[in-house]
Amino acid sequence: MTETFAVKLEEKCYLPDPRCKAAAWTPDYTRAYQEFMHDPEAFWDQVAHELDWFEPWDRVLEWNYPYAKWFVNGKLNITYNCLDRHVTSDRRDKPAVIWRGEGGEERRLTYDGLYREVMRCANALAGLGVGKGDRVCIYMPLVPEQIVAMLACARLGAVHSVVFGGFGAGALAMRINDAEAKVVITADVGYRRGKTIPLRDIVNEALTHAPCVEKTVVFRRGTPAVDLDPAREVDYADLVARAAPDCPAEVMDAEDPLFILYTSGSTGAPKGIVHTCGGYMVGTYYTSRHDFDIKESDILWCTADPGWITGHSYIVYGPLAVGTTVVIAEGTPDYPDPGAYWRLVQDLGVTIFYTAPTAIRMFMRHGDAWPAKYDLSTLRVLGSVGEPLNPEAFEWYYHRIGGGECPVVDTWWQTETGMHVVTTMIGEAMKPGFAGRAIPGAVVDVVDRTGKPVPPGTGGFLVIREPWPAMLRTVHGNDARYRTYWETIPGCYTAGDLAVKDEEGYIMILGRADDLIVVAGHNIGTAEVESALVSHDAVAEAAVIGKPDALKGNVIKAFVTLRVGANPGDALTDELARHVKKSLGPVAVPAEIEFMDRLPKTRSGKIMRRVLKARELGMDPGDISTLEE
Ligand code: PRX
Repeated sequence: MTETFAVKLEEKCYLPDPRCKAAAWTPDYTRAYQEFMHDPEAFWDQVAHELDWFEPWDRVLEWNYPYAKWFVNGKLNITYNCLDRHVTSDRRDKPAVIWRGEGGEERRLTYDGLYREVMRCANALAGLGVGKGDRVCIYMPLVPEQIVAMLACARLGAVHSVVFGGFGAGALAMRINDAEAKVVITADVGYRRGKTIPLRDIVNEALTHAPCVEKTVVFRRGTPAVDLDPAREVDYADLVARAAPDCPAEVMDAEDPLFILYTSGSTGAPKGIVHTCGGYMVGTYYTSRHDFDIKESDILWCTADPGWITGHSYIVYGPLAVGTTVVIAEGTPDYPDPGAYWRLVQDLGVTIFYTAPTAIRMFMRHGDAWPAKYDLSTLRVLGSVGEPLNPEAFEWYYHRIGGGECPVVDTWWQTETGMHVVTTMIGEAMKPGFAGRAIPGAVVDVVDRTGKPVPPGTGGFLVIREPWPAMLRTVHGNDARYRTYWETIPGCYTAGDLAVKDEEGYIMILGRADDLIVVAGHNIGTAEVESALVSHDAVAEAAVIGKPDALKGNVIKAFVTLRVGANPGDALTDELARHVKKSLGPVAVPAEIEFMDRLPKTRSGKIMRRVLKARELGMDPGDISTLEE
């Protein structure tokens, strides 16, 4: 680990319309945070009481470092809160899920409709022998049945492991085997950029290396319908049609596992992050409602796939527990054209839009004309997740998409945290480049390697000091790996990110600790240099790596993609170098700049600097199963 380092902070501040603050679920962040700190357990106790439990908990928290139990002995089923609770209320006929296919086809499921589908699917799975504690792998395209399958597992108490439909057979087999899944739920095909992705064939290939699987359930979409192998495969529609309609929710202990979700480690095999029922429900419910400020008439579009944690927490469990309408859309943001997302916002009247910086920068690259064609006036909250939202992307998002009127909530969190941890709550001052402050409910700090807080303006490690309800409980089959999260810096959960705080406690994320470059003795975060490059008009995206150098230890090499209309060449290279020098100083100026058409990214949109570095240095890139193409 590195030492702490100075960071130059430039601050600009946007104050949202005071009316949004007055009407927000958390109208006063400072007071809410103080209330939480005054008695953290009472805070979460109160939130948990807003939900339905079969039996109450004895204690809010049992903290046996580094192991936490939340809502001890409480009994619940998360699907009861996402479904049953709403079908007995005015929300019964409210749309729960609105789905758009890549070709524009639409399906809507009301809360009542979703409830019925989930119960039938749960009975169908039970008929295949799936019960409490069994693992089910879900490898599906972005269709409503993906959500139905997740909820059906949760209804039975089976543990789902959703694998994003963009992963290949090897990655899928590894995840199936690690979780020892008994059943795989898939579809014949997914659609992406007008192309067909043969999901079921990929499953079949994976299963040659995964003997634990007894049955594959195939949701058939294509025509003519593919033939299934009766020995191993069952048709989703058939199975569900034959299943009994009622399926009471299994009584789950708060600490029973709800799902496993694999996240790639910086080295070695992916980790199966384990989340449990009670705390995860309470944490995702609270953050959905308060951070997005969900009101009864809102329509939330989170553009992630349910196969990522963002989809688990902010498409499926959190928003449905709140009882809102969620939009899901199969396909990519620039297909068939870069107006696709904005057309959908206009058509469906989306009010809360949650996406990733990589998508925002892609839209910037295509210019302002695309969003300008559409009526985006229904939008009232804009969210961001997954990577630092650099100031230029913030400005563009805020002005071009939000018309300068919507709060931008940049949410920092992880697969491991299960829920938002840092954000700027609705109505609070927004500072471009800063994610914000700890949510009421989390204790966050920036520290040195001994766990001592570093002063404002000094970069250090981002940590969470106290347990929080939706935290991971273990790494499936590898508890030692779980403990390292809490043992790397004594007494704290180490996120693995570098960050810096300002005088008001706003946190700027500087990138992963392993993305730090030491140039002539100065620590430089890749995100800082990338942000400086992207602040130039010609640049769409940038990725920066360290290259060993005899003199300086390392020098910076930048890979840059340009906005439509910009010309690569020596003149631009010199100009970008001057530009970085002006904003960050000479030590951060890239020694080399290479123009590229696109950057290597993970399937969830994170830039894979490791791959660029391997190519540059002629090394083996290691595990690239998460690489997009
Ligand atoms: O480095 C941080 C970055 O994404 C990591 C977590 O990745 P994952 O588990 O795939 O979850 C992504 C969705 C929650 C973090 O360690 N990250 C996530 N959100 C932000 C972020 N970096 C900066 N700003 C964010 N808002």
